[in-house]
Amino acid sequence: MTDTFAQDVLKGLTAENKHLSSKYFYDDNGSRIFQEIMNMPEYYLTDAEFEILSMQSKQIVEALHFSQPFNIVELGAGDGFKTFKLLEYLTENGINFNYVPIDISQEAIDALTERLLNRLPGIKIKPKVGDYFKILKQNKKSDYPSLLLFLGSNIGNYQEASAIELLRLFNQNMKMGDKLLVGFDLKKNPITIHNAYYDKHGITKRFNLNLLLRINRELDADFKIDDFDFYCHYNPLNGEVRSYIVSLRRQDVLLKKLNTSISFDYNELIWTELSKKYSLFEIEAMADVSSYKMVANFLDCKHYFADSLWEKG
Ligand code: AVJ
Repeated sequence: MTDTFAQDVLKGLTAENKHLSSKYFYDDNGSRIFQEIMNMPEYYLTDAEFEILSMQSKQIVEALHFSQPFNIVELGAGDGFKTFKLLEYLTENGINFNYVPIDISQEAIDALTERLLNRLPGIKIKPKVGDYFKILKQNKKSDYPSLLLFLGSNIGNYQEASAIELLRLFNQNMKMGDKLLVGFDLKKNPITIHNAYYDKHGITKRFNLNLLLRINRELDADFKIDDFDFYCHYNPLNGEVRSYIVSLRRQDVLLKKLNTSISFDYNELIWTELSKKYSLFEIEAMADVSSYKMVANFLDCKHYFADSLWEKG
């Protein structure tokens, strides 16, 4: 784990255009800061998806056409706040299912498990920490049908080719008739998107700079985070939010564990994240090229967000 982190950091910081992967945002601290982001009113994604799962769980479950019991496998469950509404609907209606939340943060998974067992006593929950595909591979052997959840616009972090590759990998680890519910953030007024990512409280900035603190801690580096800032930009023409860390000075940073020093120019960027926004048309095309049948799209009332239900086939 630390080894691939070290390798990826070295590769990213020695590249012509420096970059670090947003997947490394989510250490325990980062997962906590992301929860703060989800609580900001400007970060409409959480509210929109929460509304979908609060108001349309019945329709979603009916569209599954599953026999019972079935499995709900959630990839990147985080604090499980949105999913709660779906799980609550199922529990209250006596539907027989197993919930398998997967996350890379042990702390997030522990908190989620404890909270769910408190609020929905009797829920059959089998939390897992670790690699999606190992767990999906095991799940493929299950006798029961499965609904995979990939919510919260996590797919938006992947560039098109890798997004398709990931969705195809999910597909290969599904049984005939299994379904996937994927959350897509929809294209909308660019100002709304800008405000969600370039937030005035500086929480998203902290979220990005936390990655430098993680490098300091895990790779024995000496990033001075006051000498770095955050910038992000939404391009409504291609639907991409791109986030960056900006070096505020010409400076050298020592990464002791890697035996390297990295030089930053004045105003040099480290690209940290892509958060891609989709149209319904692009979502349909995405399902198609990754070998799924589109079952239905579930949208919030403002049409900010879509949870798209696909079937392997
Ligand atoms: C967790 C990937 C959905 O891209 O919107 C929030 C992460 N980055 N603010 C997103 C994030 C900046 C988030 N996802």
